[in-house]
Amino acid sequence: MKQVDLLYTGKAKSVYRTDDPEVYIVKFRDDITAFDGEKKDTLSGKGRYNAEVSSFLFGYLEEHGIGTHYLASLEPATIAVRRLEMFPLEVIVRNVAAGSIVRRYPFREGEPLDPPVIVIDYKSDAHHDPMLNDDLIYALGLATPEELDQIKAMALAVNEVLSEYLDQRGITLVDFKLEFGHHDGEIVVGDEISMDSMRLWDKETGASLDKDVYRFNKGDVMETYAGVAKRILSPPQRGSA
Ligand code: TYD
Repeated sequence: MKQVDLLYTGKAKSVYRTDDPEVYIVKFRDDITAFDGEKKDTLSGKGRYNAEVSSFLFGYLEEHGIGTHYLASLEPATIAVRRLEMFPLEVIVRNVAAGSIVRRYPFREGEPLDPPVIVIDYKSDAHHDPMLNDDLIYALGLATPEELDQIKAMALAVNEVLSEYLDQRGITLVDFKLEFGHHDGEIVVGDEISMDSMRLWDKETGASLDKDVYRFNKGDVMETYAGVAKRILSPPQRGSA
């Protein structure tokens, strides 16, 4: 399989076609952005950590019966994935109130959300990713009721698997964003699962272990990403299994 031409450049990843029409190559770049692209930087090595964590967690989900687009890790920061038709949806699962839900609604930061809350935004830079509801999703033709039901059920299944995995490593999965695509009638998880797309708190100290360190200048972003990648790729902490 050979990389051919650049298909798409996002804020932090680039997607290339290959000589196999069913396979794309995703490069996790060292770019980092926040606040709808208003804050931007390049942090050397960041792409590699996000690619490592994404690859690992996609593999872990597959082991637990959840389909993803992941095929293989090629080089540091580069993975091969299945070509998908993407749903233009950002599916956010929240276990603890933080971020936009605290700014927009009367939740207290750190308040547990049980059962978890799913929020779905429209992935559209032109419209600044507005929040959707089921009726808007159907009216805009973004997914059918059957597809949306399956997407929500898969998002909750991913939440269960990842929450437990991270908990065993002393990390609270506060919230995270998934994107879904379909191929031959099968819906699978696409995009990435990384420190850019999850909000992670240290269980002991409450410290941020994710892009909030960058958003709010909470410390050394690369040190945080390196540390959390190592924890995620390591066996459970003693006494927690
Ligand atoms: P949210 O609290 O809505 O965003 P913010 O704090 O940036 O206003 O984000 C919830 C989670 O989803 C958080 O872990 C980041 C992730 N996320 C993305 O990866 N991309 C996005 O476009 C959005 C809206 C959220």
